[in-house]
Amino acid sequence: MGESLQGLKRTIMCGELREEHIGKKITVMGWVQRKRNLGALVFIDLRDRTGILQVVFGEEINKEAFEKADVVRSEFCIAVTGEIVKREAPNENMPTGMVELKGESIKILSESETPPIYIKENLDAAESIRLKYRYLDLRRPDMQKIFMIRHRTAKIMRNFLDEKGFLEIETPIMTRSTPEGARDYLVPSRNYPGMFYALPQSPQLFKQLLMVSGYDKYFQVAKCFRDEDLRANRQPEFTQVDMELSFVEEDDVISLNEELIKRVFNEVIGVEVKLPIERMPYKIAMEKYGSDKPDLRFGMEITDITNAVKDSEFKVFKDAIDNGGSVRAIVAKNCAGMGRKQIDKLGEFVKTYKAKGLAWIAYKEDEIKSPISKFFNEDQLKSILNEAGAEIGDLVLIVADKNSVVFQSLGALRLQLAKDLEILKDNKEFRFVWITEFPLLSYNEEESRYQAEHHPFTMPMDEDIQYLESEPGRVRAKAYDIVLNGEELGGGSIRIHDSKLQEKMFGVLGISQKEAYDKFGFLLEAFKYGPPPHGGLAFGFDRLIMFLAGTDNIKDVIAFPKNQNAFCPMTEAPNMVDEKQLVELGLGIIKE
Ligand code: AMO
Ligand code: AMP
Repeated sequence: MGESLQGLKRTIMCGELREEHIGKKITVMGWVQRKRNLGALVFIDLRDRTGILQVVFGEEINKEAFEKADVVRSEFCIAVTGEIVKREAPNENMPTGMVELKGESIKILSESETPPIYIKENLDAAESIRLKYRYLDLRRPDMQKIFMIRHRTAKIMRNFLDEKGFLEIETPIMTRSTPEGARDYLVPSRNYPGMFYALPQSPQLFKQLLMVSGYDKYFQVAKCFRDEDLRANRQPEFTQVDMELSFVEEDDVISLNEELIKRVFNEVIGVEVKLPIERMPYKIAMEKYGSDKPDLRFGMEITDITNAVKDSEFKVFKDAIDNGGSVRAIVAKNCAGMGRKQIDKLGEFVKTYKAKGLAWIAYKEDEIKSPISKFFNEDQLKSILNEAGAEIGDLVLIVADKNSVVFQSLGALRLQLAKDLEILKDNKEFRFVWITEFPLLSYNEEESRYQAEHHPFTMPMDEDIQYLESEPGRVRAKAYDIVLNGEELGGGSIRIHDSKLQEKMFGVLGISQKEAYDKFGFLLEAFKYGPPPHGGLAFGFDRLIMFLAGTDNIKDVIAFPKNQNAFCPMTEAPNMVDEKQLVELGLGIIKE
């Protein structure tokens, strides 16, 4: 049975003890990392979230405490009082390694069964077990470090925004569908049977309304909910640091957030971010890197070799060019000797991105080897190699198709090759880039209509507004994403504040006046009352913490995450509810 404190107070945390505390009488409380019995002495490594302290018990020190200490086992929760003394055999690897605690009394606050996972750093346990016993997983020092980083980062961001005159305002969780483009999570209503609240995919519409209300600079550490396919960087429930500002343009939002990024990286991990951060138009990002979130830590840029191959008889290339597509390549440095099997694997890889094949040219010292060499004379081959920027020893990899497929497949191949060739091994760089000038609209071929690339309230670029109705596809948006090492860290835009322009935008999207009012009536109504020019941005806070904590799994930075199937193995949510609750909500379950 666990003892109670009965007035005993903790005076200091385990990890804080240093030589300066020698001679002091202290009380610490925590968990037993390890106990060793050396006959005349019992050693306990006591752990709390600040670190580990060695405690020594002996018959000479206190007989009762010594005997009691001998019964504790790993993960017992205990309190120890005694004097800090100099350690006879110092441990340089421990921050508290110069001292130890002479245990004069001990309370066993609670006992512990043998935990199903080891409480230690770099645990190699199945994720299902870690998530089922998340409270134990969270006891591990490396996890605790992450949540201290998370706390500190939120605090720094809040302080920064407060200094800049922002107000933190909460917006509803039970609301209507927001137009971020993922599937909504729905909450059935008891008062209105058959009706549902939607959980917010972001505070987007509310923050725009707050601008109409004159709050001027808003921010929120906001929970967002999106029912989408989960990946290593996506959770159904995640956090944004969301902001909106009035009377601003793109440069204002961008430079404010650069300052914020600089502050966070400097204060949390001591990394100096050079300002201003590079900006790259979407079009360049796609052409050079085949992605709107390019990883700029390495080159291997995509080159256009359409010109060099346009006169060839190779039907695959000719057809692609005739159909308005292109032929493009990337160069794998010093890979001319790559085996056939490995090249075939790359061919299979690009097919998952809808490429029909992968042509290649190995530029060897003594020969130019390629499955398509029969379609080209020596001069043509040389000019392809030249256009692609290949040198002797290199392997040129080529895709011909419509541009969207060429960019997607070569962009993915570029990243895959970087992984295979370990180009980024030991790379410690933080390479930021703003992607700007996004297309406002994209053409949905299945539905034969244009759709908003970001959301329908994004402002077109001034010089492109004239094309909104005649050539919607060429209109660029006042939108920007902040990308770090190939990950989208955040994004935002300047919004439309002119109702005439907004109406035009709905027209282009094929949304009728009635439909627009049905969905966003409250916002359109609000915009009748003097909306200020405004814009903003939201950081994916979890993704930011992933970088600061150096993990590539979003579950590591969320205290109680869901697994890949949006399930929580610990609470077993989602789960069934009582029949009575269903009846109250007017719901019935359709059994398959
Ligand atoms: P957006 O949809 O780009 O913009 O979201 C902003 C950032 O949120 C992060 N993010 C996610 N993180 C974890 N799991 C997810 N499922 C997930 N989905 C998105 C990304 C992303 O960059 N309202 C706009 C912002 C604005 O215009 O001001 C918005 O939500 O890092
Ligand atoms: P084939 O003549 O079909 O055997 O193709 C010859 C080479 O061209 C093979 O290496 C194919 O992988 C490659 N290939 C096929 N389609 C494409 C394409 N769309 N783009 C690039 N290479 C291709």
